[in-house]
Amino acid sequence: MIAAAAALSLLLPLASAHMGCGGHEIGRRNHGGSRVLEHRQVANSVVAREREYGRGWGDDILGNMLETDLRDSGRCNASPERACRNPNAAPPGVAAGARAVSCASPTGLVHDPTSECTYYTYSPWDAIKSSYPTIWAAADIVANDTEATALFATINASLNAALPDVAVKGNGDHTGNWGTTDTTYTTDTDCWWTYAKCTTPASSTGLAADITTVPEPETWGLGFDDGPNCSHNALYNFLSEQDQKATMFFIGSNVVDWPVQAIRAKDDGHEICVHTWSHEYMTSFSNQQAFAELYYTRKAIKELLGVTPKCWRPPFGDVDNRIRFIAAALNMTTIVWSEDTDDWKVGTDNVTSADVSANYADFCAAGKNGTYSTFGPVVLNHELNNYTMQEFIDVYPTIKASFKYIVPIATALNTTYPYEETNVTYPTFAQYIGGTTETNGTTASNSSSSSTSNSSTASGAAAAASTSAKSAASQVAALPVMGMFVAGLVATLL
Ligand SMILES: *[C@@H]1O[C@H](CO)[C@@H](O)[C@H](O)[C@H]1NC(C)=O
Ligand SMILES: *[C@@H]1O[C@H](CO)[C@@H](O)[C@H](O)[C@H]1NC(C)=O
Ligand SMILES: *[C@@H]1O[C@H](CO)[C@@H](O)[C@H](O)[C@H]1NC(C)=O
Ligand SMILES: *[C@@H]1O[C@H](CO)[C@@H](O)[C@H](O)[C@H]1NC(C)=O
Ligand SMILES: *[C@@H]1O[C@H](CO)[C@@H](O)[C@H](O)[C@H]1NC(C)=O
Ligand SMILES: *[C@@H]1O[C@H](CO)[C@@H](O)[C@H](O)[C@H]1NC(C)=O
Ligand SMILES: *[C@@H]1O[C@H](CO)[C@@H](O)[C@H](O)[C@H]1NC(C)=O
Ligand SMILES: *[C@@H]1O[C@H](CO)[C@@H](O)[C@H](O)[C@H]1NC(C)=O
Ligand SMILES: *[C@@H]1O[C@H](CO)[C@@H](O)[C@H](O)[C@H]1NC(C)=O
Ligand SMILES: *[C@@H]1O[C@H](CO)[C@@H](O)[C@H](O)[C@H]1NC(C)=O
Ligand SMILES: *[C@@H]1O[C@H](CO)[C@@H](O)[C@H](O)[C@H]1NC(C)=O
Ligand SMILES: *[C@@H]1O[C@H](CO)[C@@H](O)[C@H](O)[C@H]1NC(C)=O
Repeated sequence: MIAAAAALSLLLPLASAHMGCGGHEIGRRNHGGSRVLEHRQVANSVVAREREYGRGWGDDILGNMLETDLRDSGRCNASPERACRNPNAAPPGVAAGARAVSCASPTGLVHDPTSECTYYTYSPWDAIKSSYPTIWAAADIVANDTEATALFATINASLNAALPDVAVKGNGDHTGNWGTTDTTYTTDTDCWWTYAKCTTPASSTGLAADITTVPEPETWGLGFDDGPNCSHNALYNFLSEQDQKATMFFIGSNVVDWPVQAIRAKDDGHEICVHTWSHEYMTSFSNQQAFAELYYTRKAIKELLGVTPKCWRPPFGDVDNRIRFIAAALNMTTIVWSEDTDDWKVGTDNVTSADVSANYADFCAAGKNGTYSTFGPVVLNHELNNYTMQEFIDVYPTIKASFKYIVPIATALNTTYPYEETNVTYPTFAQYIGGTTETNGTTASNSSSSSTSNSSTASGAAAAASTSAKSAASQVAALPVMGMFVAGLVATLL
């Protein structure tokens, strides 16, 4: 008991430091204050845009409709901003929100690294945002959202039946200050990662173990947390040039702040996973809030990117059996990590960039000395800021020289259907290492060809902008109505 309590008091301050005092400063567009409304003029014409985006822009039906409609109306040239914010009725066969995509692809965003982080509006999001929680705040079910309410009710009932004793952690604070839990939680009955890094729930719970490593030997499981970052084009261009895919753990609030950047990730063939709506400590939320944090992020990704993720990573690793149950009920695999670069920590807790380089060097040394002869690490690094992204780019050649393979998590697990949609497939591990790295079912099966054929600045974002219109075509389908899964869930649990 005493030993356990000591472990808790050791761990909890660590967890707080992760977040507190500017610790893990997750990138967000609005730093709490009022939203700055700034809209970028889109000066170039559709024709110029087509030249820029190249690669089939206008070849598909949606592209043609957009082009024709915008050119005919002249609205894009006259006042693209207005056209984006007040789209008229959608052309036949096109989802209501879809048609303003091209207007919402500011040229600066695409080409100029100094303005890629300039705010823009995106009409597909504007059209639906009233059905979502406030961004960068703890999510809850939105008033009158009957679909979410019904789904939650079934999940809550089966959760209460299966795991009646798992308490909400802390005293209502979602930032890692655990209040009295700090002294009262002394035995790890809930497999609470933050308490003792538990990742394997008791088999009686019926819950799957978290993914912490990949089964393939000498293989680096590659993922980035906290995106999409408005400034990620340099990183994504680099990944495209290397024909390297990764798993992107996206924060819902960032996805809706920077939808074009999020769309690029999917269209570049990266695996998209959920990193919650507001990036807070999940075990501190009520069942309903925790559900909403996952549900609305998943739903926003579906509406904006056209795919429904089946994986998530708890911010700060903060997960317990209650949260795992809710995630599993949403068909999401819980993925944590085995190695932390600490890139997110630089500038806090006396962590320096030299420490991070040393961490990477250590992992690479381990890649060569037999540590990973039977499995591979899942390494935590971030799409957080210029430093975290550039550090990865700089160290990538060393990683490549130290490991046999660097692959997204889905690939390492042969997860060929990473989304609820069954018309998007990913390569198996064997296919990926054999050179088939592209995703079937996305619109940009080989985006490296377009981004490498042009300047290094941000041509990839142009690819994103071009494919975003096409992706919009797949946004029509709403979240699948949830069926009888709870019966199945209870069956597996009991
Ligand atoms: C919710 O529905 C009620 C009754 O149908 C209605 O009065 C209320 O305005 C709705 N609230 C919102 C936020 O839509
Ligand atoms: C969900 O379950 C919790 C108990 O775990 C309960 O307090 C809460 O009222 C339930 N919510 C709904 C909407 O049923
Ligand atoms: C989970 O997956 C099952 C099987 O594919 C599906 O029937 C169910 O609708 C999914 N549940 C959710 C919440 O997406
Ligand atoms: C950082 O280093 C200073 C000086 O060595 C030390 O006083 C302080 O406690 C350290 N802070 C942390 C968070 O380790
Ligand atoms: C391999 O390298 C890592 C990192 O330097 C080290 O921690 C580990 O002890 C080494 N293992 C062996 C078997 O040499
Ligand atoms: C992305 O990175 C830039 C540059 O490092 C940073 O200023 C910004 O706050 C980051 N976050 C987001 C959400 O774009
Ligand atoms: C970081 O910033 C430098 C200087 O602006 C830029 O050249 C570089 O491409 C950026 N790296 C990333 C990964 O964004
Ligand atoms: C993935 O497929 C390969 C064969 O192609 C197999 O060797 C490996 O065990 C599979 N991995 C998993 C996690 O199923
Ligand atoms: C993608 O589709 C092509 C043609 O249908 C097929 O040859 C290839 O194996 C598929 N790749 C994956 C990863 O499914
Ligand atoms: C993808 O593009 C790269 C760079 O242009 C090219 O080398 C590669 O052969 C392409 N792959 C496929 C499958 O088309
Ligand atoms: C690259 O972009 C420049 C300027 O945007 C353009 O003039 C050039 O034709 C493009 N090159 C290719 C290969 O697309
Ligand atoms: C997948 O199927 C959905 C309909 O179920 C469709 O809207 C979407 O466009 C398809 N996506 C791809 C990439 O074919």
